[in-house]
Amino acid sequence: MNADSSLQATLEEHFRWFHMHPELSMEESGTSLKIREILSGVGVETLELGLETGVLARVRGTEQGGEEVTVALRADIDALPIKEESGLPYASLNDGKMHACGHDFHMTSLLGAAMLLQKKQGSLPGTVKLVFQPAEEGVCGAQKVIDTGLLDDVREIYGLHVAADLNPGEVEVCAGADHAAVDRFAVHVTGRGGHAAEPHHAADPVVALAQFINAAQGIVSRNVDPFDRAVLSITQIHSGTTWNVIPNGAFAEGTIRTLCQNTRERMLKRLREIGKGVSLSSGADVQIDIENLSPATDNDPELAAIVADTARELGMPVVPVVPNMGGEDFSMYQQRMPGVFFSVGVGSPRPLHNSAFIANPAPLAAASSLMAALAEKALRRIPRSKPKPPV
Ligand code: NI
Repeated sequence: MNADSSLQATLEEHFRWFHMHPELSMEESGTSLKIREILSGVGVETLELGLETGVLARVRGTEQGGEEVTVALRADIDALPIKEESGLPYASLNDGKMHACGHDFHMTSLLGAAMLLQKKQGSLPGTVKLVFQPAEEGVCGAQKVIDTGLLDDVREIYGLHVAADLNPGEVEVCAGADHAAVDRFAVHVTGRGGHAAEPHHAADPVVALAQFINAAQGIVSRNVDPFDRAVLSITQIHSGTTWNVIPNGAFAEGTIRTLCQNTRERMLKRLREIGKGVSLSSGADVQIDIENLSPATDNDPELAAIVADTARELGMPVVPVVPNMGGEDFSMYQQRMPGVFFSVGVGSPRPLHNSAFIANPAPLAAASSLMAALAEKALRRIPRSKPKPPV
């Protein structure tokens, strides 16, 4: 068995364990324990992250003189509240929970990268921090990790996500955004209820909410550049209890997804304006609450080219990118340091977040090699400030 196939076999075993033991956002204590166990088994140091879940590890090489340079690799580790229907022999043992977004693949490939980097520790010209981030699905984990301050010294960061629709081992990477900004909004309509037969004595929140929804659906078609991409979806509405009473209020909730910051700001502004307009025209009060969850990913163009070149060097085919309107809190790191988020194909018969999603583990060792190579290249490339001459 050569080194690659023995690494692949080790990783597949870990992958199956993670797949069988999925845990939801901020509940990843068993997962974190297992990660620590595997890391300490291969001699990789772990740091005190100070969060309930998640792990931060470090491979410390030897500085070549000048300042110490640190780069980071990141994987998310949480699962989804989905009942698995994949039929896999290593399906979830935790009922109603499933690794349906490939985070089991992400953390296993990061463990593989840690193993490869640890072996090279003596010749590594700097430090690599390995971030096993909790709660990506909850869209709050990246911020929690950043708030620890433990990544303040990181100069570049890389992360990957599985792509269900690519062949195993294919890589998708682009400059700029490939995952959308995520904003969540809630619409609270306060009207004045009354008799269904006497609408003129009421301020009907149902009609006001209907007007709001229809007008909001015009934002993408009328306010967004046709060459840009954006989505506005309203996903729940609630009002009323019976057929002959005009209710006092109505509620709706939804999300806006954008790739470009200007478009994001414009859409949110239009949403608020439509709220005000409907308030005026309907006589019901329309309040819009907006929660800005995460910005779009923002891949550094030069580093994205390096990811593509490195993938090709490792024999991984690089295919054209189709931007994804899903969100990804890796973007929070990219607000603070340059980095690249890219995709690795796992050829699933079903899409991400589906109960029959299956990540083919075949490219685990290749994904690990790619992550390790990116960290090492970054450490060799990032310029050091010259050491101060002795006085
Ligand atoms: Ni995911």
